[in-house]
Amino acid sequence: MADAVGNKVAKDYHLDVAPPVDGFFAKGLGHTDWGMKNRLSRLFNPKSGNSLMLAFDHGYIMGPTAGLERLDLAIPPLMDEVDVLMGTRGAIRSCIPPTCGKAVCLRATYDSSVLYEDMSVGNGLGMDMDDVLRMNASAIAIQTFIGAPGERDSLETLCRAVDEGNRYGVPVLGVTAVGKQMARTTEYFLLATRLLAELGASIIKTYYCDDFEKVVAACPVPIVIAGGKKLPEAEALTMAYRAISDGARGVDMGRNIFQSTHPKAMCQAVAKIVHEGYNDREAYEFFLEASNA
Ligand code: R5P
Repeated sequence: MADAVGNKVAKDYHLDVAPPVDGFFAKGLGHTDWGMKNRLSRLFNPKSGNSLMLAFDHGYIMGPTAGLERLDLAIPPLMDEVDVLMGTRGAIRSCIPPTCGKAVCLRATYDSSVLYEDMSVGNGLGMDMDDVLRMNASAIAIQTFIGAPGERDSLETLCRAVDEGNRYGVPVLGVTAVGKQMARTTEYFLLATRLLAELGASIIKTYYCDDFEKVVAACPVPIVIAGGKKLPEAEALTMAYRAISDGARGVDMGRNIFQSTHPKAMCQAVAKIVHEGYNDREAYEFFLEASNA
């Protein structure tokens, strides 16, 4: 057993030691095939190594979320500002022009809706790899529920998606969902992110937390953060800045962009942090200026 006697008691994440560079800019993915690397290079900007993903996949469990009542009006004006469009195949096919030129991360699971008593129960793979390839997606997002009743089913789905993704060179973005009963502690995110990476996910999406640099250090592949519930713009930019400073390779943000008073300016401000080294104060000043432009 991994916990047998003789283990060191204290954990050491060696925060002062950089991860190995193995011939590819994205951490831990240097040994993947050409097609996988090509897709990763569309998701992450090879120059900054980072990614701004716009998440608008909320409707598949929440219905018409505030700000996304009309996908066709909400998303196209923001497309030019981001690296990746993250949504369901239904949303993307119906509301995003195929000429957009942006990388697509398809939400590829079905999950229980917010009306169901336990959202972790009743999940599975919601599309075939044929359709992923037909849509020319650069990644698929798989929701998981570590520590909840739906854990086993969601991990089975993740493993099968990784097998299919490896077969065709499509990276899997493993998402650590946090249901009502799951504590958002550093220990939780350390466990959940590592678990998904070891099961083969190429990218992990999780939430920002205390000691986030440890979560990043212990995860062998790139981490991007989810935005979570709407915050005042200054606070959301501070969260993005701290995450990038602590080693996150991107931000997969939804409500803090499309529910902003000025979604396009917010998108641009987050991009300044993700790609151009702005700090949170500089990005907020940019947001205020861009909002009044
Ligand atoms: C995650 O499972 C959701 O479907 C969203 O993709 C994710 O939460 C990001 O959106 P937000 O920034 O609004 O939390």
